[in-house]
Amino acid sequence: MGYLLPALAYLILLGSFVAAFHFDAKEHAPYPVDPLRHLHPAGQQLNLRAPKSKGVFLNNSVDLGYYVDITLGGKPFTVLIDTGSSDLWISGRVENSTDTGTRSGVTYAVGGVEGPVKTALLQFGGFTIPNQAFMEIPSDDKSKEGTGIIGLGPNSGSFIYRQLESITGAPVLDRIFHQNTTTPNYFTILLGRDQDPTDFFSGSITVGEILDQYSDILREPKVQMTDVPSYQSGDQHLQILLDKDGIIAPDGSRISIQTSVKHAATEQATVVLDCGFSLPQVPRAVSDAIYGRFEGAEYVTIDKVGGTWIVPCDQEVNVTFLFSGKEYRIHPLDMTMEPHLIGLESIKNSKGERSCIGTFQPFSYSRDIINYDMILGMSFMRNVYTLFDYGDFVLGFNTTKDPYIQLLSITNATEAHSDFVTVRLGGLDTTGSKGLIEPKKTNSASSNPRTVYYIIAGVVAFMIILVAIYFIVRARRRSARRR
Ligand SMILES: *[C@@H]1O[C@H](CO)[C@@H](O)[C@H](O)[C@H]1NC(C)=O
Ligand SMILES: *[C@@H]1O[C@H](CO)[C@@H](O)[C@H](O)[C@H]1NC(C)=O
Ligand SMILES: *[C@@H]1O[C@H](CO)[C@@H](O)[C@H](O)[C@H]1NC(C)=O
Ligand SMILES: *[C@@H]1O[C@H](CO)[C@@H](O)[C@H](O)[C@H]1NC(C)=O
Ligand SMILES: *[C@@H]1O[C@H](CO)[C@@H](O)[C@H](O)[C@H]1NC(C)=O
Ligand SMILES: *[C@@H]1O[C@H](CO)[C@@H](O)[C@H](O)[C@H]1NC(C)=O
Repeated sequence: MGYLLPALAYLILLGSFVAAFHFDAKEHAPYPVDPLRHLHPAGQQLNLRAPKSKGVFLNNSVDLGYYVDITLGGKPFTVLIDTGSSDLWISGRVENSTDTGTRSGVTYAVGGVEGPVKTALLQFGGFTIPNQAFMEIPSDDKSKEGTGIIGLGPNSGSFIYRQLESITGAPVLDRIFHQNTTTPNYFTILLGRDQDPTDFFSGSITVGEILDQYSDILREPKVQMTDVPSYQSGDQHLQILLDKDGIIAPDGSRISIQTSVKHAATEQATVVLDCGFSLPQVPRAVSDAIYGRFEGAEYVTIDKVGGTWIVPCDQEVNVTFLFSGKEYRIHPLDMTMEPHLIGLESIKNSKGERSCIGTFQPFSYSRDIINYDMILGMSFMRNVYTLFDYGDFVLGFNTTKDPYIQLLSITNATEAHSDFVTVRLGGLDTTGSKGLIEPKKTNSASSNPRTVYYIIAGVVAFMIILVAIYFIVRARRRSARRR
């Protein structure tokens, strides 16, 4: 109950959704640090080896953003892929473009951008789209020339579409599915792990086709996307239901999860799959259950990160998610993050142990209508090959096919464990040496037994003293008698 009250106060003070700070690639895009700095052993350009099959290469920027090359009006741009938004914007000027005479803006959980809406010939992933609408943002320190974001979310969330109110203003995927109705209405995403010592891919995106080596995804359960209420359609995301209490904590128990999405009329939590959000956002109780029982774990507030758990960097954190009864293991290298990867000084806990940041961060709401409980960002998405089927989300399609998501687990628990030992423990497996501590109890519960112990200890000490006095007195009397 302790932290419920401040959370409520927060709700009343602010009118809209806030993710406290929380590392969002959109805020720091693009390339916050030199992406090649933390790669694999020197000489091996492993990150550049994309899986051999279909799909367009994604450039992984230290696990904090995945970028694809596009051309607009004949000019190259490198843009962040983002399933959490629905507009294309770029930073810099596109000469071969037409100004629509309107302006638009996109707001994200953190920050936003604004500029004139133009149209130009887009080339993306082998597709050519004439007159694609986009927003042109002046380049500055934060948005470097030649960069931007490609929003892959549903058109109901598109600010440009709302502005232009015609197919011309539709997001890129709608345009692709619309101009060739034979192209299946889905796309897939595979995200690589920067420090992974055994899987050497950077990332891939496909539209209307599947990566050959992951074709098993088509046999996975189709998890229906859920709808937000129609008056909230601008907040529609690529979202599904997690199984009831569908997270297995490091102690092997299921975490009890209360959903805040009232209109969903289910006990299951609603989660958004967002490849534009670096660190996943979960309710505080969930992040407490994940990180709170490790020795040396502490909940702290870190500049630029906000309230977060830190755990000793050598602590392996094993967590599994469940969707449609299937298990999705999260790689321990995705559960905690070394602070230098986001340009922070090293962090120590109160015992002086080198500590890593818990990547599944607690977040709070500051709005009345809550449409999702968690944002499963990159740290989650690196563990699954994901297929997003747009179904009837596509503009002008006369279909009632429900949109769905299929998830193929690509993290093997045994292999992930040995990766963790290699990367964090220098090859020496010490993970068995640490136990879990009891969850912290509330004050009243823990002080009562302790008081009782003190009373018992006091009584015992008093009796020992009495007995000692008795023997001393008796011994003196005896020696007095002998004299
Ligand atoms: C990935 O991005 C970095 C930083 O911009 C760049 O130096 C590198 O050449 C890119 N790699 C590929 C294969 O595009
Ligand atoms: C404009 O487009 C043409 C081809 O469509 C291309 O040759 C030319 O380089 C482009 N100009 C600029 C400034 O990008
Ligand atoms: C339309 O898409 C199908 C399937 O992806 C492809 O075979 C065909 O060539 C495309 N047609 C055009 C005109 O691009
Ligand atoms: C859409 O489908 C419905 C039912 O199949 C049909 O009655 C209607 O005419 C269709 N509309 C268009 C524009 O094709
Ligand atoms: C995981 O990897 C180990 C070792 O590479 C292998 O023996 C095991 O069969 C794999 N498990 C699954 C479920 O693929
Ligand atoms: C994490 O899981 C792996 C694979 O199942 C196991 O070998 C390892 O001991 C586990 N680590 C901890 C700290 O529980």
